[in-house]
Amino acid sequence: MNISRAQHNQNNPNQSRDEDHLVNLNLKPSYSNHQTRVSQKDLQHNMVEGNNIGMVDSTHYQNAKQINRTKIAMEVRNLHKVYQSEAGKAVVLEGINFIIKKGEFVSIVGPSGSGKSTLLNIMGALDTPSSGKVFINYVDIFALSKSQIADMRNKLIGYIFQSYNLINRTTVQKNVEIPAIISGMGNKQRKSRALKLLDLLGIKDKSNYKPTNLSGGQQQRVAIARSLMNNPAIILADEATGNLDTKTGEEVFELLRMLTKKYNRTIVFVTHNPELAARTDRTIFIKDGKVEKESINEKFALAK
Ligand SMILES: Nc1ncnc2c1ncn2[C@@H]1O[C@H](COP(=O)(O)OP(=O)(O)OP(=O)(O)O)[C@@H](O)[C@H]1O
Ligand SMILES: [Mg+2]
Repeated sequence: MNISRAQHNQNNPNQSRDEDHLVNLNLKPSYSNHQTRVSQKDLQHNMVEGNNIGMVDSTHYQNAKQINRTKIAMEVRNLHKVYQSEAGKAVVLEGINFIIKKGEFVSIVGPSGSGKSTLLNIMGALDTPSSGKVFINYVDIFALSKSQIADMRNKLIGYIFQSYNLINRTTVQKNVEIPAIISGMGNKQRKSRALKLLDLLGIKDKSNYKPTNLSGGQQQRVAIARSLMNNPAIILADEATGNLDTKTGEEVFELLRMLTKKYNRTIVFVTHNPELAARTDRTIFIKDGKVEKESINEKFALAK
């Protein structure tokens, strides 16, 4: 989490050119130098306590042996979720494990009710697990205090939902600015960054519109711009193309692919569409709250 830019470039010399490109767009890469309110003291304290808040210990994963630790964006470790209700106990997630690499475009598929949204909500700290851990940028997110979790959500995670979740009474530009207003970015920088992102997503001309005057595809582009506003470590998209017709869904999907390919963004994309899933780098299949299988979609993974 505190990897300096220079250190990062040393570890990943191939990415420095991309980074320069990103800096020109004020889209610094997620792993370069995130500032959250998790202080060094917090980390040391927790390590002394044996809570291992700071680092991903991925030794129990076979495939992790091949992954340089600095390349891991997120780790989900032995995640369980059980809902208790009057109707009884519902086991929704039953020991989910996986790693997401930086810059990877990963899809999650599975039947309705298999636990995909529950999983994504826990990965984004919108919900808590019954047991298990989630590490984002090497931070054990559920070991943080409530205010640190809120801060981490704002700065490290971008969300894109099926129903866009835009605020209709304000403008497109203001919607995009919201995460930066919360994180305290200066007025001028915030406005210029929002416009740059809207430009990148091809809807700068709609910046003064209200979301309700936009098509579904345009509204989802606004949501994508908003998700990028604070330069998150990871973007979580739950059926982001689910409300869109095939052609518009395709366009939105291609924008997400462009973000991973050109800007090295890390994206987790939940979808019911097997054709789109097959065009991400890797697909994780969830069934009955477990990882049924994973497939590397070679053609796309190798193109990076
Ligand atoms: N708050 C809750 N209390 C009890 N059960 C819940 C709760 N939220 C979700 N569930 C149950 O968890 C299971 C998984 O739900 P989830 O929304 O994660 O599925 P999903 O894979 O996203 O499905 P879909 O593809 O239809 O969106 C479902 O059986 C659902 O009824
Ligand atoms: Mg769902």
